[in-house]
Amino acid sequence: VRKIPLEYIQPEMKVAQNVYSSDSQILLTKGAILKDSYLQQLRFFDIAYVYVEDGFSNGIEVEDVINEKTRIEAMTTVKELLSDVKNQMSSGKGIMINSQKLQQSIQDIIAELFENRKLLVNLVDIRTSDSYTFAHSVNVAVLALITGIGLGLHETQLKHLAMAAMLHDIGKTCVPDEILNKKGSLTPEEMVIMQKHTEFGKKILSCQPNLSIFCGRVAYEHHEKMNGSGYPRGLKDDDIHLFSKITSIVDVYDAITSNRSYHSQHLPHEGYEYLSACGGSIFDYDIVTTFLRHVACYPVGTIVQISSGEIGIVVDTPKNLTTRPEVRVLFHQNKWVNKPYSIRLIQHHNKVIAKVFTEPEFLELVKKYQYMRQFPS
Ligand SMILES: [Fe+2]
Repeated sequence: VRKIPLEYIQPEMKVAQNVYSSDSQILLTKGAILKDSYLQQLRFFDIAYVYVEDGFSNGIEVEDVINEKTRIEAMTTVKELLSDVKNQMSSGKGIMINSQKLQQSIQDIIAELFENRKLLVNLVDIRTSDSYTFAHSVNVAVLALITGIGLGLHETQLKHLAMAAMLHDIGKTCVPDEILNKKGSLTPEEMVIMQKHTEFGKKILSCQPNLSIFCGRVAYEHHEKMNGSGYPRGLKDDDIHLFSKITSIVDVYDAITSNRSYHSQHLPHEGYEYLSACGGSIFDYDIVTTFLRHVACYPVGTIVQISSGEIGIVVDTPKNLTTRPEVRVLFHQNKWVNKPYSIRLIQHHNKVIAKVFTEPEFLELVKKYQYMRQFPS
């Protein structure tokens, strides 16, 4: 399985993960062979990436930490909840959040995460631009839960954490769409309004009888930073609640590695490096470290070059040592190897990942050295 930007997808490639539209309809099913007409449709729906199976990635599986169905259901539930809030807001009456369905979704997610032994995030999901908000909410909740489990939180705490993480940006429903969806950077005045989403969120959530007090607090505090450089209040260290600290870290990770703005998107290892650099200053060191033990620095399917010069595809990531993947070597000393072989970096202390190939860079290599053979799976 490899994740390839839509612009580099070729007809005849085999789809390796279902592709969904923003309203959770399946656009393409796993196993489908791509055609020109499908590609047109994917472009129409603003799909940025597709997971495909090609000659380089035969037999390499990548799994999400929760079931696809559970994830889609949670996304639909968040979407309904947010549109309900928006409707109530325009009617001018007080806002009453019905969180029952979302609570059920969260319980399902927690149950699945507890069943998942490895608990390692390898799959960065595919989202269309207008499903961004819902996919982001669910992703933030899932990543927060994984971190919470890593920190040893008990189940009741996890439920509160997940609900708070799921609704952390609810205040954005009060920010005008022109500002929310603006393509370029915001003016200082617009920035002030945008930052108000933390206060709006607190206002909406703290008067809900069915929600825990943590929801309002996380909505209010998730842009605070450990060193006091955040907003709205410039809180420091332990004045920020644990759940807010967790949410702020996974929120940043998901935002910088998502496809929202394709050109400013960072690769997973860049997000990893950024977070690890911020541990101890902007973010809580222990929480960042716990989180990073559970996300693949080089997700399965990434094309990498090892410091020894060998180029290959990541096939597995050991738990807790996510910077030391297993790599199936495809190319060495200016030629494609006859028989691909595996290198487990965990066993080779003298080797490191030296470079991550972007799709155009990899295609360049394929073209230059004329890769023509299909590797057996
Ligand atoms: Fe936010």
